[in-house]
Amino acid sequence: MGPIKNHRVVVTEHGGPEVLQLAEEELPEPRAGEVRVQVLAAGVSAFDLIYRRWAHLPGSPKLPFTLGEDVVGIVDENGPGATTFEDGQMVAGGTWALGVGGGYAEYLCLPEAELVAVPGGVDPAEAVCLVVNYLTAHQHLHDIGSARSGERILVHGAAGGVGTAVLQLGKLAGLEMFGTAARDQHDLVSSLGATPIDYQTEDFVARIQALTGDGVDVVIDPIGGAKHLWRCNRALRRGGRLVWLGSAAVDKQGLRVAPLSMAMTFLLRLLPDGKRAPRCPTMAKYAQAHPNWYRTTLTELLDALATHQLEPVIAQRIPLVEAAKAHELLERGGHTGKVVLTTNAYQNA
Ligand SMILES: NC(=O)c1ccc[n+]([C@@H]2O[C@H](COP(=O)([O-])OP(=O)(O)OC[C@H]3O[C@@H](n4cnc5c(N)ncnc54)[C@H](OP(=O)(O)O)[C@@H]3O)[C@@H](O)[C@H]2O)c1
Repeated sequence: MGPIKNHRVVVTEHGGPEVLQLAEEELPEPRAGEVRVQVLAAGVSAFDLIYRRWAHLPGSPKLPFTLGEDVVGIVDENGPGATTFEDGQMVAGGTWALGVGGGYAEYLCLPEAELVAVPGGVDPAEAVCLVVNYLTAHQHLHDIGSARSGERILVHGAAGGVGTAVLQLGKLAGLEMFGTAARDQHDLVSSLGATPIDYQTEDFVARIQALTGDGVDVVIDPIGGAKHLWRCNRALRRGGRLVWLGSAAVDKQGLRVAPLSMAMTFLLRLLPDGKRAPRCPTMAKYAQAHPNWYRTTLTELLDALATHQLEPVIAQRIPLVEAAKAHELLERGGHTGKVVLTTNAYQNA
């Protein structure tokens, strides 16, 4: 048997899921302060689809490149000066130190400061959901939205990866919750403790006014679009906060959703209506600016997973070599929760 090789999925050119190809290479060597991680589970996200489809985006790397913002794996080798983790220990972390990603791989090297220990007995596929989706949910619900026990929130995309995470954290925080989703996902939304609203057939502003009388305290919105955000603002009561965190509407409306959403939130900030639309840095930027928040919050979330207070919704576990299928699933829509890639090491664990 020859030396162990690394396999990683690379974007060979911009385009459909078929541009994701498997490459074989030598194992990466950890540099000073880095850890080589043998990946067990890697997250797939809407962000990955955008960087696969479109060239010339801010931060877009040269082809070929690897996607994947979040991983859980085993410490395989510590680089010089890396002393935090033992070989064989399970760790979780974000890959933003590498640019747009790098997680769709069997091995990758990450700075040890980006990694957090995973408690024993936890499924790596569930743990990987916490790194981007639950940190994003926590940041926008608590750190930016300042949602307090007893308040009402409206969560758009409530059956998606981020939406299901917001509902689980919202329930733990004692919030009264409403969530928009397609009709066939309403049982899931109800089971997570929210009143479902059909985004395809119902007017969510009218439903919220009918259900609450004066609106909600916080809207968490991963959908975007100028008209949509204007309507989100109308669903807020006085003193309410509109937290816009993503542009899932690009699937149907194209890339212009992001600048139009930015312009609308800017406009809403100028309105003297007693409501707020706080600035929302992406979670990756927020985590890099607040490393203590990142490590402490991820550790708390992992502990909550280990004690069964959190149960991430996983749309599907898909082998790494079938990453294109994972992108097709996400692009089709209709999935619930997070799509996770798993490696042979996960299957054999
Ligand atoms: N700011 C950050 O740091 C950050 C972090 C993570 C993610 N994000 C962004 O957040 C967005 C969502 O991510 P995700 O991982 O949750 O994606 P996801 O799993 O694909 O979920 C999106 C959900 O939104 C639903 N949806 C689509 N249009 C809708 C509408 N008009 N009203 C209500 N629901 C609608 C989809 O339903 P269907 O299946 O019926 O289409 C789907 O369930 C993405 O744009 C992502 O890039 C931002």
